[in-house]
Amino acid sequence: MANDEFYNEVDLYLEARLLPKDPVLDDVIGAQDAAGLPPMAVSPLQGAFLKMLAQSIGARRILELGTFAGYSTVWLARALPDGGKVITLEHQNVNADLSEKNFARAGVSHLIEIRRGKAFKSMNIMINDGVEPFDLIFMDADKINYPVYIDQVLLLSRPGTVIIADNVVREGRILDDSGKDPSVRGVRTFLEKLTSHPQVESTALQTVGSKGHDGFAMMRVKS
Ligand code: DHB
Ligand code: MG
Repeated sequence: MANDEFYNEVDLYLEARLLPKDPVLDDVIGAQDAAGLPPMAVSPLQGAFLKMLAQSIGARRILELGTFAGYSTVWLARALPDGGKVITLEHQNVNADLSEKNFARAGVSHLIEIRRGKAFKSMNIMINDGVEPFDLIFMDADKINYPVYIDQVLLLSRPGTVIIADNVVREGRILDDSGKDPSVRGVRTFLEKLTSHPQVESTALQTVGSKGHDGFAMMRVKS
């Protein structure tokens, strides 16, 4: 059995035991596949992790960079208390259109505001508007701009804000220091910016599962 299949089998085993059956979220993934999009959404177990993390810190305001088909957004929305909100940023209109359908399908449209256009621009508008800081931020947009996004994200944070960045391992490709792959270069530069960063403490967890071998970086804004 190839390693990937093994990881996938273990994820399915854990999902079957730990996660309630969730036809709505299955439909969201079904709609993503039917639209011909690649399987880039977080796994169900990772989605549940994000939701439980948001609940654990009592997140009321959540920012997501990179909506894609809205799968992680639905998980995050489900973590919200009354009056809470997820703002999710998506550059591709086709993805935003599909996500809006998925939010309606999942009954969470009222909890989510999708902002179309480049994350860089949407965040600059929020920074200039002086919006209330976010409690939890999930970075999952283009990896090339992670080094830029982290600076913007920090301007939208407060002490105690938790930031999760997806895809910081990529089957170990993150070890490639040749500079040839712009996404790898982006993630490496991002991680180097976190070294001795005055504003955040950081860690990362490698993950294996139905999404292959990857990892989340986690940052917490210091007091
Ligand atoms: C890719 C992007 C993602 O955010 C992800 O979770 C998996 C893959 C990609 O660009 O290939
Ligand atoms: Mg991702």
